[in-house]
Amino acid sequence: MKKLVIFAVGSYAVLMIVSLVYAQVSAGRLAGERCSGCHDAARICDQLGSRTPEVWQQTVERMRGNGAQLTDDEVLTISEYLATAKPTTKPLCAKLGGK
Ligand code: HEC
Repeated sequence: MKKLVIFAVGSYAVLMIVSLVYAQVSAGRLAGERCSGCHDAARICDQLGSRTPEVWQQTVERMRGNGAQLTDDEVLTISEYLATAKPTTKPLCAKLGGK
């Protein structure tokens, strides 16, 4: 019984971690696809680490005003991702060689 509980909790933890990593990777891809059409990703990567989630959301909303094609969900996903991303985050900033 004890082993079964450990196995269940362990599997749950692994699943949670895998899905978090997956969410992070797909948010990064989404940002790379939707945010590098008009300007270089460097424009974004320069700002990573220096804005709160609220300010990123305002930035992403402003990009929608500039013409970026994003749903409300995508605005939130990308804003949350950018608020925690580092200037070397992949794949968004990978091409810049990581400063
Ligand atoms: C339709 C074209 C377009 C797309 C797509 C686009 N941008 Fe922009 N971006 C602009 C323009 C135009 C400017 C300069 C004017 C301004 O700042 O609003 C800019 C400037 C910026 C800046 C520099 C200004 C600042 O606030 O520091 C950042 C950061 C930025 N964009 C992030 C993003 C992100 C994140 C995405 C993806 C959600 C994105 N952009 C997608 C057009 C676009």
